[in-house]
Amino acid sequence: MSGGQPSAASPVVCRDVHKAYHSGARDTNALRGVDLDVVAGEWVAIMGPSGSGKSTLLHMLGGLDTPDSGTVTIGGCEITSMSETQRALVRREHIGYVFQFFNLVSDMSVADNVELPMLLLGVSRREAHRRACEVLEELGIGEVLDAAPSELSGGQQQRVALARALVNRPAVLLADEPTGNLDTESARQVLQLVREEHESGQTIVMVTHDMRVAAAADRVLVMEDGVLRTERDRSIDDTAPSLLADLARHEEPLA
Ligand SMILES: Nc1ncnc2c1ncn2[C@@H]1O[C@H](COP(=O)(O)OP(=O)(O)OP(=O)(O)O)[C@@H](O)[C@H]1O
Ligand SMILES: [Mg+2]
Repeated sequence: MSGGQPSAASPVVCRDVHKAYHSGARDTNALRGVDLDVVAGEWVAIMGPSGSGKSTLLHMLGGLDTPDSGTVTIGGCEITSMSETQRALVRREHIGYVFQFFNLVSDMSVADNVELPMLLLGVSRREAHRRACEVLEELGIGEVLDAAPSELSGGQQQRVALARALVNRPAVLLADEPTGNLDTESARQVLQLVREEHESGQTIVMVTHDMRVAAAADRVLVMEDGVLRTERDRSIDDTAPSLLADLARHEEPLA
């Protein structure tokens, strides 16, 4: 069992989720029975080797893809039994998603990018603009409102992506290596913003390779070969150094 106190109020509940991909003659069991409970206000970091299934899991939690079996419940809605249209509504309302490569709409301004999720929920243009300005200001990038994403640094683009993900006040913020493509200073700024959101009660599930990011989280889970483990799930007979200890040796001390 991958931790957390199971509760009806948990914003993220995952039960025995399986997902296989079939491409050509090759079958990949990307998720092999994942259980996860994230309690309200918790920040969970997911680490693990490349190809272990981290992004696949995040896609399932975000309703971007569906499992072969098992259930995913987000903000009390069991998204795995919903139609694609219903899932899209839950996504707009309850989920904020931050991708590794920002995924901003390139021919829209920063303000338009942040207003879009609100307009999709039926918020008036005027109110959406007011709230976009407010959130961008809070995230320290109020001055780039009218810029195109291509005019911004990677760190600024990722802060806009965070603003866009947070603007509808989602039940859960899902982030897939949000600092993966940033220089050290930009990564520090993005991490600081995530910390502030967490302090104000935001529930967060984040995939990361960065020990400094994982160290800021409440709980670190390790994905290995499609199975999610806590450090304490590991056998004490396992003489291999744990992944976290291994990573820690290669990282600078925490700031
Ligand atoms: N659309 C797809 N079609 C076929 N195979 C896929 C697809 N998406 C993922 N996979 C496979 O599923 C496995 C898990 O992939 P996933 O992207 O979840 O790994 P990851 O842990 O996020 O890796 P990384 O750290 O490199 O981002 C891999 O073997 C990958 O090749
Ligand atoms: Mg990935």
